[in-house]
Formats: sequence, structure tokens, C-alpha cells
Amino acid sequence: SRTVDRNEHGAATVGGLDVRALAEEFGTPAYILDEDDFRARCRAWHEAFGGEADVFYAGKAFLSRVVVAWLKEEGLNLDVCSGGELTTALAAGMPADRIAFHGNNKTMDELERAVSAGVGRIVVDSFQEIVRLADVAARHGVRQRVQIRVTVGVEAHTHEFIATAHEDQKFGLALSGGQAAEAVRRVLNLDSLELVGIHSHIGSQIFDTSGFEVAAHRVVGLLRQIRDEHGVELPEIDLGGGLGIAYTSGDDPSEPHEIAKALAEIVTRECTAAGLAVPRLSVEPGRAIVGPTAFTLYEVGTVKPLEGLRTYVSVDGGMSDNIRTALYDAEYTVALVSRASDAEPMLSRVVGKHCESGDIVVKDAFLPADLAPGDLLAVPATGAYCRSMASNYNHALRPPVVAVRDGVARVIVRRETEEDLLRLDVG
Ligand code: LLP
Repeated sequence: SRTVDRNEHGAATVGGLDVRALAEEFGTPAYILDEDDFRARCRAWHEAFGGEADVFYAGKAFLSRVVVAWLKEEGLNLDVCSGGELTTALAAGMPADRIAFHGNNKTMDELERAVSAGVGRIVVDSFQEIVRLADVAARHGVRQRVQIRVTVGVEAHTHEFIATAHEDQKFGLALSGGQAAEAVRRVLNLDSLELVGIHSHIGSQIFDTSGFEVAAHRVVGLLRQIRDEHGVELPEIDLGGGLGIAYTSGDDPSEPHEIAKALAEIVTRECTAAGLAVPRLSVEPGRAIVGPTAFTLYEVGTVKPLEGLRTYVSVDGGMSDNIRTALYDAEYTVALVSRASDAEPMLSRVVGKHCESGDIVVKDAFLPADLAPGDLLAVPATGAYCRSMASNYNHALRPPVVAVRDGVARVIVRRETEEDLLRLDVG
């Protein structure tokens, strides 16, 4: 992640604003998001493929109406995976034909809404869903564009990819064993569905591009099989999201253009070799766009040194605003951002205020020994899957997202209030 800029008081600045002023104005904890960085990452993805691919931002990483507006302006499309995300996308004016709808268990209501809104593509995930969707589309008198989600036998996680143990999961239809080919047959036989492509998503927080290359190779293999069997050449391939970002200095992610180059090359080469027209490629990055653009700003409440062990630094948030450490053993860094300090580094663990000992934000960190209540800490790279996975555990109020640009800060998702919580209680 980027280095922190500091002003003459030693306080960190973002978009020209002092984090102490941000904490004062918006309170803590808060997610502080750099709008220029978000837009620059959208453009980097767009340009990586020379405009020759469609980039669908994965809304699950973080979605709000303002984010949809940015995506629209930057020429990106949007991948949604629930009725809630669809509603946000449409409410913010994303044209329906630029929306893709995903999910292994879309409800009838979600299918109805997606079809009647006219979403550009629905990614079907099971034999049952093919029947359900064909039915919905027929009732609406439309021919719905669909892709089929296939599992290619590559399961990629972080640094390694494992070519086994992939079929034992809930998503998609397996290439091996012929499930995917059977799904193709069924979709092609349904008048209310138009099969436009094949979709593959191999995992998340991936650094090694070879997993994507194997996936591309196998998807092209299926396209060839479809051509041979049905005489049909599908015009689209989607290779999903999953490109990793740097959470700590040990992480070394690829750039969008590197992955774009690898994917475009392999698809072009293999399609040409097979005598297939080169299909339009699309990708669905979520984390790689929004992850690095935000940090969480916390205030230190309690500092508790444990002799011979470490110092527990409690902040005013925790697993309710960042579940990733508890859930995935995710690693983060942390910095004192409200002032400079020359004090010795002390081995610390940054923990939240929730009622369980697993409520850890940063497991191992060195923070200055003079750390005190009232100091502000920043945890970088929390733009993806932190606000979107936030909870109200212990009736915590989910923090706001504050977007900063050109020295101006504005709330794009407001902080929850206790009235918000009470409003859901009945009786
Ligand atoms: N496309 C599909 C079909 C997906 O399932 C996902 C993520 C993406 C795209 C976007 O992947 P990304 O580029 O953001 O890696 N909660 C986890 C991540 C779960 C990802 C689920 N699917 C985390 O916090 O690490």
C-alpha cells in the first residue's frame, strides 16, 4: 500500500486533509477512501485491455450509490450477486445492460427482478436454475442473455493454486465429468435463453497468474467442444476476479496490465489455433480496485501491556468493521497517524471492543511505546470486504465511509445510529 504522507505536526494526511481533522469531523472508527485512487484503478483496469475487454467491478467488495456513479463515469460495468446489490446499482442509475447477475442460489424474486430490469447477463450456476430462469424469461417474453459458470479444476488461493479438491464446492458446473457441457446443451435448447458465454472464477487474493492461464486454457477447450458439438461459437468469456493486493510488505501483487496481457494472449492464441473467432473477454475485479483505496481510522481507547508477552491496544471498532482477521487470519499493518513518535517500538496486538478474544484487527504489529488513549491508528487496505462484511455484533454501529478528493471530504455511507438499530426491533 502507499506510504503515508505526513504534515509538519507528524500527522498523516489524505487528499491534503489531516486525519485528526477527519476524526474530529466524522468520528471514529471510519473508513477513509481516496476517490482519485479508486478512479485511477478503474481506469488502469479499463486501459489494461486496451478497451478490448469489459471490466465488471465486483460490487460485493464494496458498493454504494456514489461508487456506482464513479463506475459509470469511468466506463466500468458492475457485477452484482443479490437483490440488494441490484437495487443499489439500479437506484444509482447503472444501465441494466451493464449489470451482470451472479450467485449459486438466486431466488425467484431476484431472477424476476433481474430479468424485468433487463440486466445484460445472468450467470447461471445450476441445472435447476437454468429451468427457473428459462421460465421467468419466457413469462416476461424476453430472450435473456446468459453465461454458464463452470468450475475448471483450478482452485487458487493466495500464493498457490491446487489443481485438485475443486469440485467439492457449491459454485458452478464442473468441466470434468461433462456437467458444464450438459448445461450448454440444455441452455441451447431453450428459446427464452441466449447462451453468450462461459464464466470462470477461480478464487480471490491470488498473486500467481498461472491459475488464470490454466482457467483460460480450459474455458477455450470448452468453447471448442461447443463449436464441434453444436456448430455454435460463443462470443464471450469471463475469467472472474481474484487478483490479489498488498496487505503487508510481503505481498507482491501483479498489475492489471500484466494479468490482462497474459489472459488476452492465451485466449487469442488458443482460439486462433482452434479456428475459433476470438471471444470478447471480461473480468470482475473487486478487491484490486477498491481494496487499496481505503484505510480504517480508529481511536485508541485502552493500552494494556502484558509483561513478557505483548501490549494489547484496544481500538473503538474491531471484528464488526473488519471480520477478515478473525475469519481468514488475514494480515494487516497499522500505523500511529495522529502524531510523530520517536519512542521505542513495542510488540503489539490491535484488538477491538467486542466480547470475544478472537476480536483481533492486527495480530502482530510494532507500535511506539508511548502510545496512549486518544491516539489515532490507521489500518490500510481495508477498502474491500470490510464495510461490505461489517456487522452489528454487540449492537455496534457500522462506521461511515468518507470519500476524500482534492482536499474535500464527504460522507458516502453514513454512520449507523442507535435509532437505526432500534428501528428493526418490533414490539
Ligand atoms: N467474481 C465472482 C464470481 C466472485 O465470486 C468474486 C468474489 C469476484 C468476482 C471478485 O473477487 P475479487 O477480485 O474481489 O477477489 N470475503 C473474501 C473474498 C470473497 C470473494 C468472493 N467472490 C475476503 O474478504 O477476502
